[in-house]
Amino acid sequence: MRLAVLASGRGSNLQAILDAIGDGILDAGVVGVFSDRPKAQALERARAAGIPAIALRPADFDTRDAYDAALFDAIARVQPELVVCAGYMRLLGAAQVEAWHGRMINIHPSLLPLFKGLRTHEQALAAGALQHGASVHFVTAELDGGPVIAQARVAVLPGDDAASLAARVLDREHPLLLATLQLLAARRLRLDGASVEFDGRPLRQPLQL
Ligand code: GAR
Repeated sequence: MRLAVLASGRGSNLQAILDAIGDGILDAGVVGVFSDRPKAQALERARAAGIPAIALRPADFDTRDAYDAALFDAIARVQPELVVCAGYMRLLGAAQVEAWHGRMINIHPSLLPLFKGLRTHEQALAAGALQHGASVHFVTAELDGGPVIAQARVAVLPGDDAASLAARVLDREHPLLLATLQLLAARRLRLDGASVEFDGRPLRQPLQL
């Protein structure tokens, strides 16, 4: 499966994908990595792997629409089958989200529908959550609101702060994303309207991975 990866920063999820492909446990290829931040470590990781790394700076465009159009033109040029948002920290354009319906996923560091948006670990701690985690979902127009495919849970431990919780969640994000990508690459998951189908049947609860 041809993957385009969108990332704004560190790119540890991208690296997990690249390592899994290299190890032969994910039947996919990353055909381009795209970022809104030219200095993103994710772009260096892509270049080190010999993958086209493309940065488009929002400040170089007059409007949000022009930015989104240029970004997705660049993405379309590498002809991906699936767009993977892996730490991409910008809102996506509604037209592009619509055009990629069922072909774009996002990993989010919370047990959706809890704690959408930013600073999810702080949100979980402030809410007194006993469990926290990460979710992979199909992207729709609603921010972090698309149908959830799979989740991984961690305990919130006494004494946790946002950093310790983020690290525990991140450890689970990588296998969660890889397992989801393996299912997508095997064509076992698809989005039918607003519901996820797994092996041809509606998925009633997110997979717990
Ligand atoms: C990950 O924790 C990811 O879930 C989160 O950003 C981090 C990126 O890490 N994504 C979001 O918050 C999206 N709203 P990485 O760059 O090392 O993969």
